[in-house]
Parts: sequence; C-alpha cells; structure tokens
Amino acid sequence: MSEGAILVLGGRSEIGLEVARRVAPGRRVVLAARRAGDLDHERALLLADGARSVTTAEFDADDLATHESVLAGIGPIDTVIVAFGILGDQEVAETDPTHAVSIVHTDYVAHVHVLTILANMLRRRGTGTIVVFSSVAGVRVRRANYVYGSAKAGLDGFASGLADALAGSGVRLLLVRPGFVIGRMTEGMSPAPFASTPARVAEATVRALRSGRGEVWVPAVLRPLFATLRLLPRPLWRRLPR
Ligand SMILES: NC(=O)c1ccc[n+]([C@@H]2O[C@H](COP(=O)([O-])OP(=O)(O)OC[C@H]3O[C@@H](n4cnc5c(N)ncnc54)[C@H](OP(=O)(O)O)[C@@H]3O)[C@@H](O)[C@H]2O)c1
Repeated sequence: MSEGAILVLGGRSEIGLEVARRVAPGRRVVLAARRAGDLDHERALLLADGARSVTTAEFDADDLATHESVLAGIGPIDTVIVAFGILGDQEVAETDPTHAVSIVHTDYVAHVHVLTILANMLRRRGTGTIVVFSSVAGVRVRRANYVYGSAKAGLDGFASGLADALAGSGVRLLLVRPGFVIGRMTEGMSPAPFASTPARVAEATVRALRSGRGEVWVPAVLRPLFATLRLLPRPLWRRLPR
C-alpha cells in the first residue's frame, strides 16, 4: 500500500504544527486551513524539519458541506491531526446565542462531521491514525468557560466512542487532553496551574502515538487531579475563578 500523507486540519494551529513537525521527516504533509495561500511560514518550518513535501488545501471546518470533497482531494492519508478550534468569548456567549452556537459548531459539530468522514475513509483503507484534541475544560465543565467546555465535553465523549468503534479496524484514535496551554489561543490570559506549551503538548502526543496509547493527559498529573476534582462539591466548583 502506498504511504499516505500526514494531514493537519487547522494547519496554522500551534499545537497541530508542533505535532506535525515531530512526525514530518521523510513524509508528505498536507496543511488544510482557512486562507490556505497564507501558510508559507508553516510550510517552511516543516520542510526545514525534513518533510518530503508540504502542500496546502483550503479548509473551513464550519462549512460542513465541503468536508467530503476537501478530504477526497488529499489522496491517501495515514495520520490526521485534527487541530482546528476556537476558544470564543465566554462573556459574549453567555448572552448571545449566535456566538454560543458558533463555538459549539466549530468545536463539536464540525468535529463530529469531519471525524465521521475520516473514520469512513480510513476504515476503507484499513489503516491510519486520528489525533483529536479534547481539553480538561470538558472533563468537568466549569462555570468560567462552560460554552467551550461543553463543546469539549461533547467532543471527548464522541471521540472516546469512536475510538472504541474503530477497535479492530486497523484505524486508531488518540485522544489528547491538555490543560491550559500558553499560546495564541490563550493570549492575554494568566496561565492556570500546570500550564503547558504547544511544544510540551506535542512531545506528549508524539510519545503516545509511538507507544500506541489511546489517551494522553498533558501534563500527566492532570489525570489524577481531575479524578479528585470531579468529586468537589458544586458550591465550591462553581466558585473556581476559571
Ligand atoms: N491552547 C490551549 O490552551 C488548549 C488547551 C486544550 C486544548 N486545546 C485544543 O487544541 C487544539 C489546537 O489548539 P491550539 O492551541 O493549537 O490553538 P490555535 O493555535 O489557536 O489553533 C487553532 C486553529 O484552528 C483554526 N480554526 C478555527 N476555526 C476554524 C475553522 N472554522 N476552519 C478551519 N480552521 C479553523 C484556526 O485557524 P485560523 O488561523 O484560520 O484562525 C487556528 O489556526 C484545539 O482543539 C484546542 O481547543 C487548546
């Protein structure tokens, strides 16, 4: 079977790009993003890291009707890094239903749509890996970011079920649960405890990919921490500042 590409959906994502850079050497990489003509910087980084080739594709995750044709145009795919997403503005979303739904549309609905198409494609090929970025924000949803958190909770559940559905198909799904990541998405916010960086998330993701794991928390301490935080009484939980 011919070697497939590494595809980054949301090709400008800091985390997605850091993961791609670590798996790119010798491989064909496709960056799918909005404004695909404006990916020279990302392309140059991947080529400098040893990617065999880097091409781009126009991809707007919110435009569900285009998913199938965008993915079909990429050719065989081995690894998909699903890295698009928005934090949105929680304060606005609390009173503006259109904004609330736009966050859920990108972070949940568009993921459900594209992941279903990807699962079909990779199942037919009988091989492949899908990387999905959940968040601790969805593990127990907090008052301070409940719109984004609810979309991540939905995504986490969907991706967990899809991973189980793919068992035995030759296709695997790696679910990554980062905590706060210092970067573009969180610009201007003061880091939460156990904050990480895109590079650290990528290192943990690539380690998990190589060891065949199905889930990874970044940093690892968040897993036992959230096992405990799940038990915190609501009156205390609701007062958490973020
Ligand atoms: N950063 C964190 O603190 C954090 C923590 C936990 C989980 N995560 C998750 O990790 C993933 C990657 O995040 P990141 O930190 O790499 O964020 P990032 O650098 O802001 O990247 C997100 C990317 O998503 C793209 N995007 C947004 N809406 C899109 C759409 N409709 N169609 C196509 N692309 C779209 C953006 O593209 P444009 O360049 O076109 O705007 C941006 O490049 C996300 O799912 C995020 O929720 C992040």
